[in-house]
Amino acid sequence: MLIKKIESCSAHAGVIGLGYVGMPLMVAIANAGFRVTGFDINQEKIQRINDGISPVPDVPDTILGQLIKSKQIRITDDFSILSEVDTINICVPTPLDENRTPDMQYIISAVENVAQNMQSEQLIILESTTYPGTTEEVVLPRLQANSCKPKSGDTNISTTQSTQTKTDDSLRVGQDFYLAYSPERIEPGNSTYFMTNTPKIVGGVTKNCTRVAKTFYEQFINKTHTVSSPRIAEMAKLLENTFRNVNIGLINEVALICDRMEMDVWEIIDAAATKPFGFMPFYPGPGPGGHCIPIDPHYLSWKARSYQQNSRFIELASDINNSMPKYVLDKIIQALNLHKKPINGSKVLVIGVAYKKDIGDTRESPSLEVIRLMLDKGAQILYHDPYVSKIILGGVDTYHSETLTSSVIESVDCVVILTDHSIIDFNMVVKHANIVVDTRNATRSIQTGSNKIIKI
Ligand SMILES: NC(=O)c1ccc[n+]([C@@H]2O[C@H](COP(=O)([O-])OP(=O)(O)OC[C@H]3O[C@@H](n4cnc5c(N)ncnc54)[C@H](O)[C@@H]3O)[C@@H](O)[C@H]2O)c1
Repeated sequence: MLIKKIESCSAHAGVIGLGYVGMPLMVAIANAGFRVTGFDINQEKIQRINDGISPVPDVPDTILGQLIKSKQIRITDDFSILSEVDTINICVPTPLDENRTPDMQYIISAVENVAQNMQSEQLIILESTTYPGTTEEVVLPRLQANSCKPKSGDTNISTTQSTQTKTDDSLRVGQDFYLAYSPERIEPGNSTYFMTNTPKIVGGVTKNCTRVAKTFYEQFINKTHTVSSPRIAEMAKLLENTFRNVNIGLINEVALICDRMEMDVWEIIDAAATKPFGFMPFYPGPGPGGHCIPIDPHYLSWKARSYQQNSRFIELASDINNSMPKYVLDKIIQALNLHKKPINGSKVLVIGVAYKKDIGDTRESPSLEVIRLMLDKGAQILYHDPYVSKIILGGVDTYHSETLTSSVIESVDCVVILTDHSIIDFNMVVKHANIVVDTRNATRSIQTGSNKIIKI
């Protein structure tokens, strides 16, 4: 019985999608004692993982290498092996398409692979962030449709090994297989809260599904929180990320107000944050980036529209956040102007192209937008990021990270701090720079040379 296999960690686990979410999940499951097979469609990534090279910072090469060597983990693009696993966690991307609506192609293709290889007594858990209803409206019908036993003479239905082994016309959720949604909350680079010590929300399609999924997570996560349905779990994740997006939008608006009123927004936030209750500090910047905060709220607003409900906070926060790169550009133009320099032809060194500190993820990074805006105005751009060796703008122009030396800093008209990576020596930067535009308050404790710094 599946639950016994899970409790004894003798179940064979499968993880689909080996990125920022799937990789640490796969390692956490393996560390609990399960044998794990990781599935991905990216051949190059599969090869690198099999060579013990981790694609994400939260999984060190040494740990990955040991798990691969001991065969506790194996990686493949052969999805027929899904028929051999007992549990399946789906961690594939959920981006927006060109019309800013949910792009479900990755979930659908992963689920179709699961469905084609489905066996009874499997636990399937969707972890990708998505709109409320996905598990029951998108995943469940595909699993049920494909789990039908082929009728004799029906050539349209696949006769794979998995379908031949089924005994019923259709596998029943909660009895023959288990389906749940459990949002991933990992924050790459966070060394305090990681996968195993961050509580996991679990919502199954039936009570049985919730029970089996909860038992699975209890083997490697300290605390689980069950909810009454997958929709509640899906919505809870969107609430978390929308809360963050809206509060970042609010503090960015406060920063714009403070700029007009010639007040230091950073000092104001520090003062407000001394209140021990009812206030939580958020910080302004060039805008939120990454795979989650700028994107996930649109999954909610898109779904809300189908219920004739507008989500004005979400739209407003996105408008403000999306306007921040242009505001940063204006600050750079002002800073250069104070030194009687036009942006056209000026040399600007950007520090940080990752969307946040101490990681190398440039997805939806506002730094890239600030760079594009400066290039449009004729600036010459150099950049330094200890975690991003190169960037490709517009799919053609490649820039390589400069070494951060005093001569590079002295050679530019302006330094713009867009990501406040901890390992950067900002004292050295300010000492050698002509002008510094600081969008992250990275120079907060620097006294000498503070007259060269312009903050947002
Ligand atoms: N990155 C984060 O910090 C974070 C945090 C919480 C939740 N999430 C959510 O988790 C999900 C995954 O995000 P991520 O950051 O890990 O993405 P990612 O892009 O880092 O990794 C996704 C992986 O899935 C693979 N993939 C795509 N389609 C596939 C398919 N059909 N079958 C197998 N593999 C496939 C890709 O090749 C890639 O390796 C998204 O829904 C995201 O919103 C991300």
